[in-house]
Amino acid sequence: MAMEYESNNWIWDGVYYCPRLFGGLMLTAALLGLSTTYFGGIGLFPLSYVWSDSGIFHKKKCEKKRIRVYMDGCFDLMHYGHANALRQAKALGDELVVGVVSDEEIIANKGPPVLPMEERLALVSGLKWVDQVIANAPYAITEQFMNSLFNEHKIDYIIHGDDPCLLPDGSDAYALAKKAGRYKQIKRTEGVSSTDIVGRILCSVKDTEGGGDHTSTLLNGDSGERCHSQRAQISQFLPTSQRIVQFSNGKGPGPNARVVYIDGAFDLFHAGHVEILKKARQLGDFLLVGIHTDHIVRYFIYFML
Ligand code: CTP
Repeated sequence: MAMEYESNNWIWDGVYYCPRLFGGLMLTAALLGLSTTYFGGIGLFPLSYVWSDSGIFHKKKCEKKRIRVYMDGCFDLMHYGHANALRQAKALGDELVVGVVSDEEIIANKGPPVLPMEERLALVSGLKWVDQVIANAPYAITEQFMNSLFNEHKIDYIIHGDDPCLLPDGSDAYALAKKAGRYKQIKRTEGVSSTDIVGRILCSVKDTEGGGDHTSTLLNGDSGERCHSQRAQISQFLPTSQRIVQFSNGKGPGPNARVVYIDGAFDLFHAGHVEILKKARQLGDFLLVGIHTDHIVRYFIYFML
């Protein structure tokens, strides 16, 4: 199901040919932390059309075509690798359309997802780099789907991380897009994946069940060794100042801004987090988010269990 395209061609003309005005709207929405499609239901807004003095609705002339890029994925248990992928994809164009792969397609190609479509959709739609979402996207870029991306959705490039994405028969899921010369790659973030997160959760459950000397409990048996090696893995995603700049929109609160503060563990980012952050943002002009340290999170989990 594609969202909000079908009956709005006149708006789309404006979107393609009038980047600055439309970009302003997108930027405002991004600063608000809102998706311009899924939540607000106002993905497209006819800003590129202006009233002339005579009252005739005419199209404002703008020079450059906006580049629309498409990235798909399962986006199960949203993690910083996904955020970094979407950030890089957005930088390759002006508008980012994201295809969220259907539950059925994920099951057929790599096993059941933890989060169902609606929750994965809510997470993806909540990110500031995402301009539009296509729900129930296919896992592989088939000829039919590729044509609908190019012709209906006016996509210029299809983007994926530089990890191989193979179908069960061993073929490349993006082969057709590559052949068509409309494929671009971004750098995959090392050290994190949905599969890895599921592994970490299983390990932490084992930790809790084991009590006392976790390491010795876990090292008994195969899964114990797996957990030990997972813990030894160091994330490559260091929050350097360069990274923080890449992820930031560079805006601080204005002089009279009402600053709202919310804090939390934000462990395993989920649709509930997206919702609460949006509500908090609506209470003021600037939202500051505090993230608890690992130590505090462990302390509370210890007392809650
Ligand atoms: N991606 C990335 N870096 C990661 C994980 C994912 O750049 N560490 C990119 C993928 O290359 C893809 C998009 O994010 O373009 C969506 O990835 P997804 O299909 O959700 O895959 P994974 O998170 O790798 O999930 P899994 O462990 O189930 O393969």
